[in-house]
Amino acid sequence: MTPRHLLIGLAVLALAACSHAAPPEASKPAPATGSSAASAAGAAAHAQAAAAAKAGPAAFEPPPESAIPPGPFGDVVREGREIFINTDVAAKAYVGNGLRCSNCHLDAGRLANSAPLWGAYVAYPAYRAKNGHVNTLGERLQGCFKYSMNGKAPPLDSKEMVALETYAFWMAKGAPTGEKLPGAGYPKKGFKPPQPPDYVRGEAVFKAHCALCHGADGQGQQVAGRYVFPPLWGPDSFNWGAGMHQLDNAAAFIKANMPLSQGGTLTDQDAWDVAMYMDGHERPQDPRYKGDLAATRKAYHDSPMSLYGTTVNGHLLGSAPATRK
Ligand code: HEC
Ligand code: HEC
Repeated sequence: MTPRHLLIGLAVLALAACSHAAPPEASKPAPATGSSAASAAGAAAHAQAAAAAKAGPAAFEPPPESAIPPGPFGDVVREGREIFINTDVAAKAYVGNGLRCSNCHLDAGRLANSAPLWGAYVAYPAYRAKNGHVNTLGERLQGCFKYSMNGKAPPLDSKEMVALETYAFWMAKGAPTGEKLPGAGYPKKGFKPPQPPDYVRGEAVFKAHCALCHGADGQGQQVAGRYVFPPLWGPDSFNWGAGMHQLDNAAAFIKANMPLSQGGTLTDQDAWDVAMYMDGHERPQDPRYKGDLAATRKAYHDSPMSLYGTTVNGHLLGSAPATRK
């Protein structure tokens, strides 16, 4: 154990011991396990709420967790929440990397501007260009398992899918259907880089603002075999088919939410540059891979927002995809 690991271990213990106590200070890395993740994201939620109060219309308020009812319906809501925050354990058969849903949908899917579940629930069924037809919420959830979790889609009527949909339904209580709620998705609209994103500048941003938690090599940090800080690229991260591999999604997520609990502090340029650096590294192959990089890029990645099949920092991305040992 290095001193760094020891430090994180102690932080985990300290946070676990005071689960719903005061949120950790911004200077202390906040690990992503169970209740400690909830308090970390809670801190982010406060910062976010403060920012939103200044910025624009108030985000939708989901019911508090304490309002999950007792009884069989509430049990399934709780099961959905558990799958969402401990995906690698509670839905193990469908997960192929080291991530959890709540690593990208913060505060157990409650936090505005991190694609919250309440925003998603009222936005489906919807047409998606990604697959060219109207998707139900179930199919949308399946996509996150295939790509973001680099795993397998649970069947639509599986208990995992029923639980996740029930959790999302409960969280959207009182929200109007078919409307884009303030705080839904990522704040992408009109979010453009002042200058084209740059890998070398991005590396400097990464070293200064991200490496402390996500590791100098971007591989995250583990305690007792589980990630407390999730990997940003490499074999245990999201694959080349995931939404987060697109620069606009990554930049918007990072700008609003990273460094954790300090969302909104990076400049727009820094957010785009560090997104370029993160997405300019190898990760698991796109499961739709056609056996040919150029053909796969043409079919699924024909956009300036995807670096897949392009050369970045002297490397042809997707030509040596990361695989788990
Ligand atoms: C690596 C980060 C990441 C992980 C892990 C992840 N997602 Fe997502 N998710 C995204 C991104 C990025 C989008 C938005 C994609 C887009 O706009 O094209 C998204 C979108 C969604 C949406 C639609 C949101 C909306 O407003 O339309 C749902 C629902 C969703 N994810 C559920 C899940 C579930 C359930 C899991 C775990 C099984 C999960 N996600 C894991 C990154 C992630
Ligand atoms: C204080 C520690 C900390 C810092 C600094 C930090 N992150 Fe994170 N980051 C986290 C944690 C913890 C999560 C998971 C959140 C959760 O599960 O509640 C996360 C999640 C993410 C995710 C989604 C999950 C994944 O692995 O893809 C991305 C992308 C990300 N961070 C990028 C960045 C970038 C880029 C920076 C620098 C600008 C940064 N982070 C700085 C702690 C941090």
